Amino acid sequence: MTDTTATASSTTDSTSSRQPEPPLAILLELTHRCPLRCAYCSNPLALTPASQELDTAGWREVLRQAADMGMLQVHFSGGEPMARSDLTELVAYASELGLYSNLITSGVLLDASRLAALQQAGLNHVQLSFQGLEDTQADRLSGFRGGVAKKQAALALVQQSGLALTLNFVITRSNAHELDAMLHYADQHGIARVEVANTQYYGWGLQNRAALIPSEAQLDAMTACVTQWREQTRGRMVIDYVIPDYYARRPKACMGGWAQRFLNVMPDGTLLPCHAAQTLAHLQFPRVPHSTLHAAWYDSPAFAAYRGSSWMPEPCGGCEHKERDFGGCRCQALALAGSADTLDPVCERSPQHEHVVTLARREAQLGEQPYTLRSFSFSA
Ligand code: FES
Repeated sequence: MTDTTATASSTTDSTSSRQPEPPLAILLELTHRCPLRCAYCSNPLALTPASQELDTAGWREVLRQAADMGMLQVHFSGGEPMARSDLTELVAYASELGLYSNLITSGVLLDASRLAALQQAGLNHVQLSFQGLEDTQADRLSGFRGGVAKKQAALALVQQSGLALTLNFVITRSNAHELDAMLHYADQHGIARVEVANTQYYGWGLQNRAALIPSEAQLDAMTACVTQWREQTRGRMVIDYVIPDYYARRPKACMGGWAQRFLNVMPDGTLLPCHAAQTLAHLQFPRVPHSTLHAAWYDSPAFAAYRGSSWMPEPCGGCEHKERDFGGCRCQALALAGSADTLDPVCERSPQHEHVVTLARREAQLGEQPYTLRSFSFSA
């Protein structure tokens, strides 16, 4: 594996010579505990046990440092962040610090009293995920029985509270046919923002890819469906649409560029530029309390390794898109092309691009396949 630390420290181009901007947002993976066992889970294969999670004081210190650095938003995520009994205290502290707070939740642990407490603590926004609206399919994908009804109840509570809300529909081959019904459901409920998020294949989800990836025909149908609903709901519902990377011709600007906009904190306090960065075993990522957030962002070789464009191989270095897509996803380059230092194979200029598209097409034809669900003993 190339020593990217050396590459990063010897760069001279315009993007790397500038002092990086502070991150816009911090994503706190408060815990890996989760009552769901989703086949597409993007968390790592090895989850952090509860005994190694940062304690309340540790998370408060992370929030304080984030605010000090000038960050504006905090996303409380997991796992299921509601599995943390100190969530309300952390939301209250984020609010005291002036951070805009978003709760990313499956909704299955949400009840009226906890929601009221979170709202009183200053929570600003809820992002509620659905794995579909058909019980059998959603239960199978999430490994959780009766989730749809619980999520619908959670949706009603959030709507009654008046909190800002985004519905996140997770799309795979097994529920792509439900998309029209999902968007109809969202519109019927007066939802202002919806994410149609095809699963990305990281962590646990990568090993289920052959069972999850939709076909190109499904993708075309989804795109037509989203286009129609966008037209039909213009002015009342915004639909964000994330397609399966593998069928794209240009890579996504993953995380808005490596270490450019987001800082992720793992349950044990490891600081990362993205949720899958620990798969890049050649990089040493800092961890609180041994490092500050400031030192990680501005001084860590791991954060500098793929920031900007100076690390890029050709043809990325001379590409007119390099300041827009920042070379795509480093974790995907490693997973699919065997090196984080090479082109993201999603890019049509990658020598591996055709292989990736062929792989996706072949896997998408496999029909219904068994999922390997997560197994993690859960306690809230
Ligand atoms: Fe790590 Fe894309 S998930 S760079």
